Amino acid sequence: MNKETILVLDFGGQYNQLIARRVRECGVYSEVVPYTVPVEELLARNPSGIIFTGGPNSVYGEDSPRCEKRLLEAGIPVLGICYGSQLIAYLEGGEVKTAPVSEYGHTDMQIDVPDSRLFGDVPQRTFVWMSHTDCIARVPEGYRVTAHTLNCPCAAMENAGKKIYAVQFHPEVMHTKEGRKMLAHFVFDVCGCRGDWRMEDFTRETIESLREKIGSGRVLCALSGGVDSSVAAVLLSRAVGRQLTCVFVDHGLLRKDEGDQVEAVFGPNGPYDLNFIRVNAQDHFYAALAGVTDPEQKRKIIGEEFIRVFEAEAKKIGAVEFLAQGTIYPDVIESGLGKSATIKSHHNVGGLPEHVEFKEIVEPLRMLFKDEVRRVGLELGIPEALVFRQPFPGPGLGIRIIGEVTPEKVRIVQEADAIYREELEKAGAHKNLGQYFAALTNMRSVGVMGDFRTYDYAVALRAVLTSDFMTADAAEIPWEVLKTATTRIVNEVKGVSRCLFDCTAKPPSTIEYE
Ligand code: XMP
Repeated sequence: MNKETILVLDFGGQYNQLIARRVRECGVYSEVVPYTVPVEELLARNPSGIIFTGGPNSVYGEDSPRCEKRLLEAGIPVLGICYGSQLIAYLEGGEVKTAPVSEYGHTDMQIDVPDSRLFGDVPQRTFVWMSHTDCIARVPEGYRVTAHTLNCPCAAMENAGKKIYAVQFHPEVMHTKEGRKMLAHFVFDVCGCRGDWRMEDFTRETIESLREKIGSGRVLCALSGGVDSSVAAVLLSRAVGRQLTCVFVDHGLLRKDEGDQVEAVFGPNGPYDLNFIRVNAQDHFYAALAGVTDPEQKRKIIGEEFIRVFEAEAKKIGAVEFLAQGTIYPDVIESGLGKSATIKSHHNVGGLPEHVEFKEIVEPLRMLFKDEVRRVGLELGIPEALVFRQPFPGPGLGIRIIGEVTPEKVRIVQEADAIYREELEKAGAHKNLGQYFAALTNMRSVGVMGDFRTYDYAVALRAVLTSDFMTADAAEIPWEVLKTATTRIVNEVKGVSRCLFDCTAKPPSTIEYE
């Protein structure tokens, strides 16, 4: 079926994923493609529209990324953003110059042509997000300026007849107040899309195409219990049932009861008809980590051991035709578009197994953003607790225990973390949090319990607000919740005599402890 598609032509900007994301929010499928894809190939996709992204270059630079002018002659609607807008001006014979004053951040913009299709019902004065040093100094013939700011005489221009639009600002970021509206105007009013991207279609079509691709072959899937690998596993199970084997490696660094929760969903008593193998490799991991204190070395060991354990299981199963991975779209984009897409090494823990024989990798979620994966998960009937699970790092509690990992420390952090999460959730204080967990510091301090002196560990409680996980703010947690959690932890968890709340933002801190 030929779906409406908006292609996002990537010129190296930092918000490119976000553009595709916003278009999909309008209900229209969108994909980021490298600017090097030949015009014929782009046109063969029959796109409803193309968006040129921003990028760090100047259009006159020798090595600057450019597309062919032919793309603007094909009758397909185009929207240029930032560098993309300058590229349109350049290709169409206008002029781009270094702006007398660079603009960065919130900028007051005046719309000069209110009946422009791109602006529709957007108020004539609005705030936009600017980030540029060059600007369009002279618009090409046939184009008209449709908006300006104090320092940017051409904040937007268009050739409505050719359906080509260009904006100097970034409509895709939240800071552009009416940005989503403008993108929706482009998608619906300029490109004429109706909005046919629906997750139920995706689910059905993916199951059908997996069935076709896999035939009677066998599939192996490394299941972590995280959202992505769980949704991938259920899609595959729906497609090929018992031809799928899921291997779940319990490395002993999971949160309290997590291994059992994963088994309850995917194991023999769960709702799915698949072969589920739980490998209890706790002792193996603890032995490998004994005496190791360096954070990077710990990560490396956990990643490598994970692969070795997985390989050993795979060997027992014998040759499989397909290896399934829960790779999602941001992983694909971050791993570099344009490179060979067939065998990519993204994995939550530590790369692809080298000694597992398989013919091909299947990645059913590689075109989906996280929230879309969640929607598919809900549609497949995966429990909400699993679908909306907060992110949990591959190396698990191994990077929430500072210093050497021991079974005793794992027990402490598991119990403290379970209490902290329970209290936050009971009070409803967890709702907007990006991540919240307890970590075990490597510090012991003096305390008193009953009439006895104690010398026990300090637990750190962390709660952060973040949407991209690249930056984060410490969240304000109600004092009552912190007090209750602290009282319970020091009373109920043997080996803890102190709780500390971590108020640090990222940067300079990271979200995890190691
Ligand atoms: P940091 O600690 O770098 O974490 O601020 C940012 C986000 O990434 C997660 N994280 C990891 N996830 N393997 C993962 O799968 C890892 O090694 C890893 N380290 C950090 C972290 O939980 C947070 O969501």
